[in-house]
Amino acid sequence: MKVTVVGSGNVGATVANVLATKGFASEVVLIDIKEGLSEGKAMDIMQTSHMLNFDTTVIGVTNDYAATAGSQVVVVTSGIPRKPGMTREQLIGTNAKIVKSVVDQILAHSPEAILIIVSNPMDAMTYLTLKDTKLPRNRIIGQGGMLDSSRFRYYLAEALKEAGYPATPTDIDGMVVGGHADKTMVPLVSLATYRGIPVTQFLSEEAIQKAVEATKVGGATCTKLLGTSAWYAPGAAAAALVEAIALDAKKLIPCCVYLDGEYGEKDLCIGVPVILGKNGIEKIVEVEFSEAEKAKFAESVAAAREVNSKIGDALK
Ligand code: 2OP
Repeated sequence: MKVTVVGSGNVGATVANVLATKGFASEVVLIDIKEGLSEGKAMDIMQTSHMLNFDTTVIGVTNDYAATAGSQVVVVTSGIPRKPGMTREQLIGTNAKIVKSVVDQILAHSPEAILIIVSNPMDAMTYLTLKDTKLPRNRIIGQGGMLDSSRFRYYLAEALKEAGYPATPTDIDGMVVGGHADKTMVPLVSLATYRGIPVTQFLSEEAIQKAVEATKVGGATCTKLLGTSAWYAPGAAAAALVEAIALDAKKLIPCCVYLDGEYGEKDLCIGVPVILGKNGIEKIVEVEFSEAEKAKFAESVAAAREVNSKIGDALK
């Protein structure tokens, strides 16, 4: 399988690095407009291949979309990251034009590709891509829920440790739905478990709320510490979506997808549980949220629609 990663910044390079070490792709193309950046990162990754024992070939190119031809999956990380104190939504003015231009060039060379959108504000960039390309919705996937769920598991494990249980994130099952946005993402507490047992049996309401709030600002907390947005977890999350598609794993993963009546909503892209396999989104899975979670999901939908309403101006 050939995979292209557009944008060789921290997130894009991490996606390429994780894909290489996983070894299921035959070729990964890194592409960026900055002269030499992709070539340098690809070379650096390839110089780990002997030590990390992988056979994936990583190639770096500067703005040469012909080199991306025939990609089955394309991960779009292009655009600027946020700086401390910024919201993802504030990036729309810069990133909308970049994402549109990148996607058009990618599809000119890989018309059958499944697209994974990582650029922020991700839910709006996924919607823009769907509207712009008019591709079937199974082929346009936004990455947010995988990352936010992973952060949720991390913070729940930390809370459990504080409460005296020796949990690690792999002991936790938990999902975040809604938009990939600090205020309005929805960690599904009612469905979160520690080795199959509801976390509510181990943690106080206060400890759970602390984990929920930490999850929601998980990206902002890293941005504050790093001076730019995070990359290891966002990169690993995008690579996990590529893996589910490449291996036709049919995994249940929260992804940003176009809703057409599911969850009572139409005409927006937002995070919900889906089955991810070789066709991209193979099924949108409707699960029962608690009444409080339903209300929060509705707020998240309203916030996503508000950002979508700014796409037209951002493209001018
Ligand atoms: C994050 O949450 C970059 O949106 C990404 O870290």
